[in-house]
Amino acid sequence: MRKAMKRTIVIMGALVAVAMAAFAQQSPFSNPPLAKTPAEKKILAELVRMAKDNETYLSVPREDGEALWVLTEAVNAKQVAEIGTSTGFSGLWFCMALTATGGHLTTFEINHQRATEAMQHFKEAGVADRVTLIEGDAHQNVLKLKAPIDVVFIDADKGGYSDYLKKVLPLVRPGGLILAHNIEMAPDYVHAVTTNPDLQTIFYMQGAGLSVTLKKR
Ligand SMILES: C[S@@+](CC[C@H](N)C(=O)[O-])C[C@H]1O[C@@H](n2cnc3c(N)ncnc32)[C@H](O)[C@@H]1O
Repeated sequence: MRKAMKRTIVIMGALVAVAMAAFAQQSPFSNPPLAKTPAEKKILAELVRMAKDNETYLSVPREDGEALWVLTEAVNAKQVAEIGTSTGFSGLWFCMALTATGGHLTTFEINHQRATEAMQHFKEAGVADRVTLIEGDAHQNVLKLKAPIDVVFIDADKGGYSDYLKKVLPLVRPGGLILAHNIEMAPDYVHAVTTNPDLQTIFYMQGAGLSVTLKKR
């Protein structure tokens, strides 16, 4: 009887170990990106913690987050505007780039609770001074933005993407980027960015569907 119990405990332990290993493999941060500076390390730690503690809400997957970082740093962005902050997850990916470029993020969120959580996350990551969070309806509030903007990221109400594009495009500098998330849910937007000769758009489908639009010089 005792032998059987012992064997059951060993088998259960092995099953738990296998499940944990499988989870670690699935976890998007089982092999987190490598930090070059203490500032990057602090932001990455907050990103990993947020993912682990489920403090994200409809946030970009890691693949898209890394794309936001790389693209933003590559264009040496000083001014980034994000429409749809949620709890600050994508904003922190932008901050990975902005700590290197010395730039600033202006981010828009309509939901008070998520906006409050996002500010807390920006503080925890040590980037609160790099971020201005504007609470309220971004369809009105984006009109407060000033040119030149280097990168815009649209990730709010999907039916509103074309309206956001119309309002922000004149503010984006030539050579700047307009990024949009979950583009399969925004066909009018896709039509708008693929039929305008002033723009060149590519699609990065490794995550949740990211369009990358260059405003030509
Ligand atoms: C998909 S989530 C954004 C996820 C975030 N970019 C991230 O990756 O962590 C969309 C967010 O847009 C916000 N939103 C929706 N309509 C909005 C509007 N008109 N103005 C501002 N924010 C809006 C929602 O409250 C929600 O938090």
